Amino acid sequence: MVSERVEKIPPSGIREFFDLVLGMPEVISLGVGEPDFITPWRIREKAITALEEGYTSYTSNKGLQILREEISVHLERKYSLSYHPDREIVVTVGVSEGLDLSLRAILDPKDKVVVISPYYVAYPALVELNLGEVIYIETEEKDGFKINLDKLKRAMKIKPKAIILNYPSNPTGVTYTKEELEDIWEILEKEDILIISDEVYDELTYSGKHIPFPSLKRAKKRTVLLNGFSKGYAMTGFRLGFACGEEKIISAMTKIHSFSMLCAPIISQLAGREALKAQKEVSLMRSEYQKRRDFIVKELNSLGLSTHLPEGAFYCFSSIRKFKLNSLDFAKRLLMEEKVAVVPGRAFGKIYDDYIRISYANSLDNLKEASIRLGRFIEKIN
Ligand SMILES: Cc1ncc(COP(=O)(O)O)c(C=O)c1O
Repeated sequence: MVSERVEKIPPSGIREFFDLVLGMPEVISLGVGEPDFITPWRIREKAITALEEGYTSYTSNKGLQILREEISVHLERKYSLSYHPDREIVVTVGVSEGLDLSLRAILDPKDKVVVISPYYVAYPALVELNLGEVIYIETEEKDGFKINLDKLKRAMKIKPKAIILNYPSNPTGVTYTKEELEDIWEILEKEDILIISDEVYDELTYSGKHIPFPSLKRAKKRTVLLNGFSKGYAMTGFRLGFACGEEKIISAMTKIHSFSMLCAPIISQLAGREALKAQKEVSLMRSEYQKRRDFIVKELNSLGLSTHLPEGAFYCFSSIRKFKLNSLDFAKRLLMEEKVAVVPGRAFGKIYDDYIRISYANSLDNLKEASIRLGRFIEKIN
């Protein structure tokens, strides 16, 4: 009964691996891409109050008017980006839905979409589910996992319909300066291409300022900006995001959304309003992640797992080249022998079999214990 197209798509490398972790006691999981913080109390309290007050209905397909207005004000205040709340913003069920909607809205069969590797696992799968073809641009450690402009120019010759950008990046933690983004835009601007910019980790930028892609000169019209509440606000379970862009594309996305989801849950939307006011809580979580990052990167490098300093998100993409084990064997043995879970690099692109992704969305105590266990493991395999 299952379509060939769906059969063909491999399951998420992460989920597959984490089925192994489930049910194993005493495992320190540095695998999941999810904040370990509970949603700040003031946000949870709003959700509870919303329920108590009987907010249990559908909302407008686009999302609550007041929430769209507040998202618009938030983007204006934070990034001087101006989006009309009625015409240029749609509230989605997480960035995940925003991604799917943007691809569904633009793709015809065999249209090409550029994905930067190593990639967030959903990108190629969603392109293929929407009958598109993925063109990969592989980034390399020697370039700090940043997009190589010659490769970008070459990819443009294939006339892709869209490119998915993601910064700060899952899995590398890489982000871009304004100048670097301008160099990328200079190439893209000449093409007839839509930029889908997944900036779900914008609040988790440690060095410098996050520059949204649509804030570059003339880029706003050509960009769909995707963002949400999962990471910066520790609200993964609320399933709340938003997409901003040109009226024509947002209205196409809203049309699909109105048939498939109807709307994002009203309780989450009301909680999201409070979240936008919780900037102090966001900044406390950010500085906590930064402390953990500084600790774990130093440890990993001293253990011989060469690791770039991630500038954002909460992941290290560490090289295991020295150890003569592929990423799946490394991760499996580390899990079985020392009960530490990490994600094999190959989940983020075939060529990254010499890497593992380590999430530092975990307590400093757990990170300390994990690095002791990792040290013991490395002594064994060396
Ligand atoms: C790059 C990236 N985009 C999107 C998502 C999904 O976000 P959401 O929870 O808003 O659907 C994730 C989750 O890990 C992610 O890493």
